[in-house]
Amino acid sequence: MAAMDATDAARILEESLERGLAGIRSAGSLDELEAAQVAALGRKAPFSGVQRSLGSLPEEARREVGRRVNGVREALRSAVEERRVVLQEAEGRRLLESDRVDVTLRGRRPRAGSLHPLTLVERQVCEIFVRMGYRVVTGDEVETDWYNFTALNIPPDHPARTEKDTIYLDVPGPGDLLLRTETSAMQIHTMEGQEPPVHIVAPGRVYRKETPDPTHLPVFHQVEGLAVDEGITFADLKGTLLAFAKAMFGEDQRVRMTPDYFPFVEPGAQLAVSCFICRGRGCRTCKGTGWIELLGCGMVHPNVLENVGYDAERYTGFAFGMGVERVALLRYGVPDMRMFYEGDVRFLEQFERVG
Ligand code: PHE
Repeated sequence: MAAMDATDAARILEESLERGLAGIRSAGSLDELEAAQVAALGRKAPFSGVQRSLGSLPEEARREVGRRVNGVREALRSAVEERRVVLQEAEGRRLLESDRVDVTLRGRRPRAGSLHPLTLVERQVCEIFVRMGYRVVTGDEVETDWYNFTALNIPPDHPARTEKDTIYLDVPGPGDLLLRTETSAMQIHTMEGQEPPVHIVAPGRVYRKETPDPTHLPVFHQVEGLAVDEGITFADLKGTLLAFAKAMFGEDQRVRMTPDYFPFVEPGAQLAVSCFICRGRGCRTCKGTGWIELLGCGMVHPNVLENVGYDAERYTGFAFGMGVERVALLRYGVPDMRMFYEGDVRFLEQFERVG
């Protein structure tokens, strides 16, 4: 801009001021303001051209134009600052607005998890017996042949012992190690550790070589019960299980016992409860019989008492064992046991405590 004279310079400065102010004042955001500032005062702005060519003006004009350059720069800068304050306030208000809390809104409930249906049923079963004075005991899932079979009066040639039914561990140890096939093993542990009276329930996981289907799983849960004292009779067993059935399934429950065989009890029985789906009239769940088989039970076999060093002449007792999956399946009307293990949240979150 070598050829610029004082008139040109004055014109450019006035235009720069006018356009610059217009740009600055119309900036709608801090970013736009930044751009307007660069356009008005930046290195490429006409204003800066004038500034740079001041040196080529004659002395008199240079002072004159120089003063105007300073005036325009000041005017533009103060316009930028003014606008910045306005925009910052607006931005602040916007942030405040977006941060505003409506204290009259209803609270949002955090998404809570739910207890697994098997946990619910297991706890409820145990609670019912705890209220009757029973103690909850738990034990290891890895057992020896003694606890799982021999001490329970299960003969050496019993089919349950075979590889077909029992999962044996391939590790060196004191005799065969296996995954317990029934919580009845806890009867032995408990009685070995204390004198009568015994009143325990033992919840826990058990293992059997089963192919999973709607009513069988290779890993499932049982709750074992054991009561040993002087003078315990079969009537005590029946009364206890009736009380349990009423607490678990409702006051109008009835129970029925039919003979069954387990090596560790004599006599042994199967306990059925009146079908709580059809109330005994007969439906698909009870296969038209009005009864649902719930658990195995019986009077503790004298051999078992003797195996743990109890005096079988003095003490008697009863035991029972039930499948938690089976109780849960019946109680909640679940069609397939495998659903308890699939971990589908849509299934799992439907359960609440029963009873
Ligand atoms: N342990 C037996 C089972 O797994 C159930 C049972 C327990 C039967 C105690 C009688 C007494 O089938």
